[in-house]
Amino acid sequence: MSYQIEYQRACAEPEAFWREQAQALDWFKFPKTVLSQDEHGMDRWFADGELNTCYLALDHHVANGRADQAALIYDSPVTDTKKTYSYQDLLNEVALFAGALKRQGVAKGDTVVIYMPMIPQALIAMLAVARLGAIHSVVFGGFAAHELAVRIDDAKPKAIVSASCGIEVCRTIAYKPLLDEALKQAQHSPNACIIYQREQQLAELQPGRDLDWNAAMSDATPTDCTPVKATDPLYILYTSGTTGKPKGVVRDNGGHAVALNYSMQAIYNMSPGEVFWAASDVGWVVGHSYIVYGPLIYGCTTVMYEGKPIMTPNAGEFWRVCKEYDVKTLFAAPTAFRAIRKEDPNAELLNKADLAGLRVIFMAGERLDPPTYEWTKAVTGKCIVDHWWQTETGWAICANPIGLEMKIAKPGSSTVPSPGFQVHVLDDQGEPLPPMEQGSIAIKRPLPPSCLPTIWGDIERFKSSYLNVYPGYYTSGDGGYIDEDGYVFIMGRTDDVINVAGHRLSTGEMEEVVAMHDAVAECCVIGINDDLKGQLPLGLVLLKNGYEEQADTVQEELIALVRQEIGALACFKIAMVVPRLPKTRSGKILRKLLRQIASGEEFTIPSTIDDPNSIYDIQELMAERGLIVEKLAG
Ligand code: COA
Ligand code: AMP
Repeated sequence: MSYQIEYQRACAEPEAFWREQAQALDWFKFPKTVLSQDEHGMDRWFADGELNTCYLALDHHVANGRADQAALIYDSPVTDTKKTYSYQDLLNEVALFAGALKRQGVAKGDTVVIYMPMIPQALIAMLAVARLGAIHSVVFGGFAAHELAVRIDDAKPKAIVSASCGIEVCRTIAYKPLLDEALKQAQHSPNACIIYQREQQLAELQPGRDLDWNAAMSDATPTDCTPVKATDPLYILYTSGTTGKPKGVVRDNGGHAVALNYSMQAIYNMSPGEVFWAASDVGWVVGHSYIVYGPLIYGCTTVMYEGKPIMTPNAGEFWRVCKEYDVKTLFAAPTAFRAIRKEDPNAELLNKADLAGLRVIFMAGERLDPPTYEWTKAVTGKCIVDHWWQTETGWAICANPIGLEMKIAKPGSSTVPSPGFQVHVLDDQGEPLPPMEQGSIAIKRPLPPSCLPTIWGDIERFKSSYLNVYPGYYTSGDGGYIDEDGYVFIMGRTDDVINVAGHRLSTGEMEEVVAMHDAVAECCVIGINDDLKGQLPLGLVLLKNGYEEQADTVQEELIALVRQEIGALACFKIAMVVPRLPKTRSGKILRKLLRQIASGEEFTIPSTIDDPNSIYDIQELMAERGLIVEKLAG
């Protein structure tokens, strides 16, 4: 089937197209209604269908000949552990853990927060929650206590599942004290916390509230799947917006299962039984979709890797894992390959013969810069696919849909829109722009299955953030252009979101933390280019009178504060005291101008600027500190 025919059919006859895709799944009640609107006027898929996502991921396969097939391979170089779970093994564990959660009062529609490192128990917990028809909210392990507290207060979980520790390069991170601190800060209290004790560092359990995972499992009764409506939420995943409050992206059960199952063939060209490896983290959307749900719903074997692309122990890890498990498709962030290239520029740790089974390397999470594309292609000899997506969509908006047709790749482009996504480039007035002209990337409604129907508990925020900007469209927050051949080029965010090592972070949120410091009169955080991580945050700070002598100390305290409040993953390592911030006469900080200066781009000082010297001062300071970096090539 050629891409063009499939794409046009998905646009022209969305209901017939997606009904057909839905038929690939084992529903409890097949939907009669394919596309409809809910009480808020939002598009909903398969409204009267009934299913259970855990059933699709496990029970269906066990009942249909995959009981002994490997479902999950856990490979942890940081603890020197490898373990394979068959579909039957995984089903047994999940059904039992669902029983343990049920005993703690978790039922259909309840929420459960999961704050865990990359261990099988994280995946088991997610599927167990789904089994009960409850809603999970996984919080990335790198987030600090405050971030966890904010999410706990928003999701109001009945239970929290965590582990005693996570293992980073050369250090163990105790999770439990972070959880305890978060619960101290949060208004909401869960019924119970179930803690998986890892031998690397045990946690102290609080009697009456905390329960040991093994103890909870030992007296649990395996529990069956609870049917849910296709439109019932499967999970909430918080992502950074432009304000300090993260947005709880809601994913439903039916549309999500249909779209992911479709994507495993159409985008990734996988066959059931093959091994798929997304080298991400379950705390991110890539982990939800392609470590857990996509591969399992489709009957593949998924790899869960607890380690880094380098340093655990070296830059040959990706190649080792691909060889050891005969991985057919590898999916990772460009930053991972930049890190490998930096450590092993000539790919001496890579023996091409070891990658005989590997067909394709997919990348996402940030723009795949052409040098990284070229290097990875040259050293591996494999097909490299850049694909663009967001937490909000759950699967690729644009990709080279190699399961339908292999398009010729254009470095710098995430190729063409996936069937179901009508991608347009709009100007500030919402008018479509011609090919090659850069503007805001928007997707015409209805969005295809799996895309968010709302923000958890805040439909108005969903409308104002995404739908009201350009009526009739979903606005992606990304800018870019489409070329004459219909190839989409995503050039970066148009808002205050930055991408650090494939992690989406809000500069607005960092500003709120920096502004908490007593010495800070005003501040601004921008993203600057970084050769390894893509972007890094840079804080520009104006001190209150009287603090001038303490500038160095304040800079250090600000770095520590962001690490404490948001987490180490923010990589907030540069805070620079400035004599003044460039502003318009109406008081708006000229962030775009600051970004242009830091990127070494040409800039024009707007006529509305309050004090032009403010710009030159900052330019000089940035130059002194070597912060004016060259743009990433391409
Ligand atoms: N729990 C606790 N801390 C964590 C963490 C976690 N799960 N993940 C990261 N951190 C910490 C790190 O220890 C580090 O702390 P440090 O400042 O004390 O060194 C900090 O957060 C930054 O981490 P990271 O961005 O991972 O930097 P790194 O230098 O350790 O590794 C890369 C660099 C490029 C190897 C790494 O960023 C990487 O593998 N990126 C790929 C990201 C990815 O897969 N994203 C998913 C999108 S598809
Ligand atoms: P997240 O929601 O964390 O997956 O981050 C989504 C954001 O990451 C997008 O809005 C883009 O800014 C960026 N992104 C993801 N994939 C790509 C890609 N292939 N090319 C360019 N930017 C990307």
